[in-house]
Amino acid sequence: MKRVVVFTGAGVSADSGLATFRDSDGLWAQYRIEDVCTPEALQRNRALVVEFYNKRRKELFSVEPNAAHRAIAELERYFDVDVVTQNVDNLHERAGSKRVTHLHGELMKLRSERNPELIVDIDGWEQTLDARAEDGALLRPHIVFFGESVPMFDRATQIAAEADLMIVVGTSLAVYPAAMLVRYARSGVPVYVVDPGNPDTAMIRNPLTHIKARAAEGMPELLKKLVSELSE
Ligand code: APR
Repeated sequence: MKRVVVFTGAGVSADSGLATFRDSDGLWAQYRIEDVCTPEALQRNRALVVEFYNKRRKELFSVEPNAAHRAIAELERYFDVDVVTQNVDNLHERAGSKRVTHLHGELMKLRSERNPELIVDIDGWEQTLDARAEDGALLRPHIVFFGESVPMFDRATQIAAEADLMIVVGTSLAVYPAAMLVRYARSGVPVYVVDPGNPDTAMIRNPLTHIKARAAEGMPELLKKLVSELSE
């Protein structure tokens, strides 16, 4: 079976109603990164950081996967699929994708402030300020803040290097090292980009097809195309 890696960003969840980061109505137009998404912010203003992720987690309970998530999950009927996502939502999993690697963490998990390996699932949407891990340290969102390492990136580059086809959906390709993933596809491996905007594809050296559409339209179309090519 052909190996396909689907590399996603906030745009794949936009059609579910979740805000992206850098669109005009994105999260970084409403919040300053340094206030809610850095280790310093967590030390300096823990309540604001916990509240920011509580709000996003609460919203996650009110949205559903969209046609793009479902089309990506359906790819698994025809291909050997890995999803590598920058998103911290669980919509790929809820749509049925089996192998999802989260580069920037997961909203539905917390971890010990002292031991990053001590990761727990959160029940419901609310992290209380004084919630502690088994090691006695305070819990924090299991999110990769700006300036922190991206432990899953190495695994993601191995996945990309084994792919026979790469699909990039809904990411501006503006954040590193995540954006570098497109450089790990072997030369000649086709890359499809599904995005109504203009992500930074300059570093993509591979044969590139940009499907200029919202993910909820573009991904089902791409699925149909890829499946029809199988029977040719
Ligand atoms: N369908 C597909 N793509 C869309 C849609 C849609 N309906 N709406 C917007 N987009 C595209 C935008 O054109 C843009 O290219 O999604 C992309 C969103 O880019 P960003 O907001 O920068 O989100 P992302 O690339 O996921 O950000 C990467 O930055 O802040 C950090 O950790 C955060 O994981 C995030 C990382």
